[in-house]
Amino acid sequence: MTTSHAFVAGGTSGINLAIATAYAQRGWAVSVLSRSQDNVDAALVSLREAAGDGPVPLGFAADVRDAEAVAGAIAEAAAQHGPIDALVSGAAGNFVSPAAELSSNGFRTVVEIDLLGTFNVMRGAWDHLRKPGASIVNISAAQSWLPVPGQVHVGAAKAGIDQVTRTLAMEWGPDGVRVNSVAPGPVEGTEGMRRLAPTPASVEAWTEAVPLRRFATTEDIVNAVAWLTSDEASYVTGVVLSVDGGLALGGSGMIHRAMHAQ
Ligand code: NAP
Ligand code: COA
Repeated sequence: MTTSHAFVAGGTSGINLAIATAYAQRGWAVSVLSRSQDNVDAALVSLREAAGDGPVPLGFAADVRDAEAVAGAIAEAAAQHGPIDALVSGAAGNFVSPAAELSSNGFRTVVEIDLLGTFNVMRGAWDHLRKPGASIVNISAAQSWLPVPGQVHVGAAKAGIDQVTRTLAMEWGPDGVRVNSVAPGPVEGTEGMRRLAPTPASVEAWTEAVPLRRFATTEDIVNAVAWLTSDEASYVTGVVLSVDGGLALGGSGMIHRAMHAQ
């Protein structure tokens, strides 16, 4: 049996590192990429432990905004680990800023990391995953369709990602490649929520906004990604799967209160 290969962009911390770790624990060959060599090195220490006697994980320091660097890293990963079976695009930047105070460069920065970066990752990987059974998961967010105050840049970027997901599911389906998004709600212990809910009052308000009355664990997101890239989801493509405890059901009113509770 050949070993499967998972490439996780942004896979050196938080949710994406948890995803990469799960693949390593399951015996997959794993490659991760992020900007900071220190983050890559630290992630490789824990990923190698998770991999045990399995394939040795690979790490690459590159910025997803740099298409050439991303393509080079993916080509090297494929040269060492073989063609990609699961591609996860999760590199992202986030900060809270009212639109009236947000600079053009601030808006562009987040759109370029999240949206252009996701295109660069998918485009750079195409020649290395173009085969029946391969699949892609883009990490979106509830902000993709829920307008959240202070998050105009993030909402625009994530909505764009989900349209990339749907469009490339159409284009790449005939090659047997599935393309889906996972849209998490608030995930506990992450950099993202440290930025969005920095005080106990705001954590409480966000929790109140979730019908299941808790934040997601990273494992909740890992499970969704693992399922989408498994054969069990072999007829699922072009989907944006909310893993948000029902957050989106409450609409923007609940989130508006949460964002103003800090
Ligand atoms: P995180 O820990 O900050 O992880 C972000 C990762 O992306 C890091 O590995 C970071 O490493 C990398 N990265 C950032 N900018 C990059 C760039 N320009 N090029 C390459 N890599 C870059 O964040 P998280 O909270 O776990 O979020 C992970 C994903 O889940 C994101 O897509 C986020 O939008 C999504 N999400 C999170 C939540 C949440 O509750 N946290 C909710 C919904 C969606 P370097 O700094 O080394 O580049
Ligand atoms: N509020 C308003 N604007 C902000 C901001 C904030 N909190 N943080 C950054 N910006 C603006 C900057 O002022 C700059 O615009 P300007 O040139 O008009 O002043 C622009 O955004 C780019 O900032 P810079 O620091 O140069 O970007 P970067 O590429 O080095 O870093 C970020 C990208 C800003 C997204 C940074 O927070 C980051 O690296 N995040 C990764 C981790 C993360 O966000 N994790 C959560 C994922 S959900």
